[in-house]
Amino acid sequence: MTDSLTVRDNRTGSEYDLPITNGAIKGADLGKIKTSEDEPGLAVYDPGFVNTASCRSAVTFIDGEKGILEYRGYPIEQLAEKSNFLEVAYLLIHGDLPTKEQYDTWQHEITYHTFVHENVKSFMEGFRYDAHPMGMLMASVGALSTFYPDAGQIQDPKNRHMQIIRMIAKMPTLGAWSFRHAQGKPFIYPDNDLSYTANFLSMLFKMSERRYDADPRLVKALDILFILHADHEQNCSTNAVRSVGSSQVDPYSAVSAGVGALYGPLHGGANEAVLRMLRRIGSVENIPDFIKGVKDGNERLMGFGHRVYKNHDPRATIIKKACDDVFEVTGVNPLLAIAKELEKIALEDDYFISRKLYPNVDFYSGLIYEAFQFPPEMFTVLFAIGRTPGWLAQWDELVQDKEQRIARPKQVYTGQRQLTFVPASERWA
Ligand code: CMC
Repeated sequence: MTDSLTVRDNRTGSEYDLPITNGAIKGADLGKIKTSEDEPGLAVYDPGFVNTASCRSAVTFIDGEKGILEYRGYPIEQLAEKSNFLEVAYLLIHGDLPTKEQYDTWQHEITYHTFVHENVKSFMEGFRYDAHPMGMLMASVGALSTFYPDAGQIQDPKNRHMQIIRMIAKMPTLGAWSFRHAQGKPFIYPDNDLSYTANFLSMLFKMSERRYDADPRLVKALDILFILHADHEQNCSTNAVRSVGSSQVDPYSAVSAGVGALYGPLHGGANEAVLRMLRRIGSVENIPDFIKGVKDGNERLMGFGHRVYKNHDPRATIIKKACDDVFEVTGVNPLLAIAKELEKIALEDDYFISRKLYPNVDFYSGLIYEAFQFPPEMFTVLFAIGRTPGWLAQWDELVQDKEQRIARPKQVYTGQRQLTFVPASERWA
């Protein structure tokens, strides 16, 4: 068997042999297929990059048909059950699990970079009282580049490591302060005696008590949610981080672009949309009408469907289980009954079965977040904190990848050409 693809261009009768490596041909090889030397070569038209690989990556493996998700080769189910978010972050960034000594150093480094410059606090206070926390997070992560101008030295591995530590450490601080701002509550400084996730909860909810000790079951559940969100190969926001990072800008600017992409309702904003949808449905009796609206194309069943998973989203299964642990502490969210019934009906309906639409990670995560007393605007912020190690692992890989070039997709031009410009004074006369 030869690892190549033979293509016959029926326009010219010419044949081309295109090498196949790792199950892919190079787009540039297609560019050699031309009708004449002065014509542009053949291009692939692929909106949304549905079947276009933009990189080689060793970070995350997904088999959407089988519902498999692995970080650096480790199944997500095992990591969610037996690891913790900081260890998973180490794994994603370094490619291997840490030794005890490596883990202790990593934990120490992250813990001692949780504080931000006081000026960050001042400018965050300057946002409007009702600013969306995700907008605040996006702006403040980007602004960190002005506090660390050396972050532009992306070819220096030590420097990259420093920025990676800083960003993983500071995201919970920025996220928590975005939350407190909307509530008119004072910003709470990090408590370095607490774990990563417990400290985050403290910065969110602490008031006058000396130390905020969240229920360990809630800390564990949120830690699992962070693990589930930590990476997801070339999703929209990671692609944004890579695309912006390919210009060799500093990682704060690149991650800020990722936060922007995650903000959108088709990506990280979906769990917020799920809750709004469940609230709009209001009661189990209204579900058939809602499903009809979806099938008629008037609605989307938010939290269902995925570009990659066409069988089940393994993260959704783990989250559904975590729901029970959280509700044991907080009491059951009344929207759960609507969600479960909606899922049951959709999974039996041919519209969803034939399109391979199953619950995704966002279908249940919003319900858990609400049980934590987070307003829906905070959901994407939580997603962003979890996704930060993934973005950075992918960015670090990109920077070291000799095959990468500045991201610059082709277009298929469909507009007019060579018109003659008539000045406004003549056109409007
Ligand atoms: N409700 C109703 N119909 C749907 C849905 C949905 N949630 N998702 C897809 N479809 C239909 C779609 O209308 C199309 O039907 P037809 O073939 O008749 O035109 C078919 O299924 C294929 O959908 P698509 O839009 O071409 O699929 P996509 O891969 O471009 O979109 C998606 C993937 C996740 C954007 C989409 O399924 C969606 O909008 N889901 C709801 C939003 C959501 O839950 N997003 C969170 C994704 S998981 C978090 C993450 O990893 O980012």
